[in-house]
Amino acid sequence: MAILITGGAGYIGSHTMVEFLTAGRELVVVDNFMNSKPESLRRVKEITGKDFRFYEVDLLDRDKLEKVFLENEIEACIHFAGLKAVGESCEKPLLYYHNNITGTLNLCELLAKYGAKRIVFSSSATVYGKPASVPITEDFPTSTTNPYGETKLMIERILADLVKADPEWSVSVLRYFNPIGAHPSGRIGEDPQGIPNNLLPYVSQVATGRREFLSIFGDDYATHDGTGVRDYIHVVDLARAHLSAIEYAEKTTGIDYFNIGTGVGYSVLDIVHAYETATGAKVPYRIAPRRPGDIDECYANPEKAAKVLGWRAEYGLEEMCRHAYGWQSQNPNGYDK
Ligand code: NAD
Ligand code: WQD
Repeated sequence: MAILITGGAGYIGSHTMVEFLTAGRELVVVDNFMNSKPESLRRVKEITGKDFRFYEVDLLDRDKLEKVFLENEIEACIHFAGLKAVGESCEKPLLYYHNNITGTLNLCELLAKYGAKRIVFSSSATVYGKPASVPITEDFPTSTTNPYGETKLMIERILADLVKADPEWSVSVLRYFNPIGAHPSGRIGEDPQGIPNNLLPYVSQVATGRREFLSIFGDDYATHDGTGVRDYIHVVDLARAHLSAIEYAEKTTGIDYFNIGTGVGYSVLDIVHAYETATGAKVPYRIAPRRPGDIDECYANPEKAAKVLGWRAEYGLEEMCRHAYGWQSQNPNGYDK
């Protein structure tokens, strides 16, 4: 019996594959490489010395996806595949709704048809919108301000309805906070196409000289130093949360929601200073206007995941920065040679 991983070639998927293969789990992986490269899968094999079955399939192609179920005994799914850029989702809402929602509908239909009614879904702290306070617990009200976040909320609702209609389903919704860092080997990591949207890949590209300086989006937020505060979590810790979630899903039915963060908030300036200290590299920056849609502070209360899943983040900020730098300096052009 195998676990199906959708979007396995991506940033979080590749790190999760390493943890699952190392734990001796059998994997079947699908990806259409719309935001990733086959090289990441080759490196997963290199790190683990383990093999897996891979299908280059678009989740929108239901017939091709069904072949994966016909050729393998799937018992559960970890569903990473989706588009994730907030700004792009505002420019191309139909692309985001179609890819993320229709892809998930096709997947869930097949999981049900082939009796694999267990799914761990990649949701996001973005579903909390602008939280009234921090730290955020799972029962906070949800809302969103952009089509990307809307797809995450819609999928959460689709999964809740599925469980209501058929109590055999087991659904774990993981709401990730801000994943950063890379595998300690430096062989896999985040490989954004073009100019990075997110803070850490940008910082790494400045630290390694690919970009001149970091623009800090606003220094007048209601935080300890005026710059935005987030809950950054090491991608390997995040990957391990999926192992705990799958083990939990194997024992339970119904739907559950988990914050996957560290519970600690760091500002943009904290990150810049920690990065410089951890790596010895310089990160020149300039203060720029606020980025539309950004909020002051966002960090998790991760106690539910600790209590129910038995999972807790272990890596600290120093390692997150050091590993991000290791990946970036060994692979200045990402997976492109
Ligand atoms: P990523 O873009 O690196 O990985 C997603 C993978 O899915 C890519 O390899 C892409 O090619 C694939 N994919 C997309 N649409 C597909 C389709 N229709 N069919 C087949 N494959 C498809 O992103 P990531 O950072 O690894 O994120 C994984 C998941 O976690 C996403 O659902 C994302 O929304 C969610 N998430 C990410 C973050 C973050 O900051 N990285 C935070 C919260 C939630
Ligand atoms: C972090 C902080 C910026 C870049 C986004 C999505 C969210 C989730 C994670 C998927 C903020 C500041 C950033 C830069 C900066 N993804 N910043 N200069 O906005 O918390 O979350 O990614 O689900 O949905 O919205 O992450 O890394 O973009 O920003 O000053 O060049 O860094 O203003 O305070 P964010 P981020």
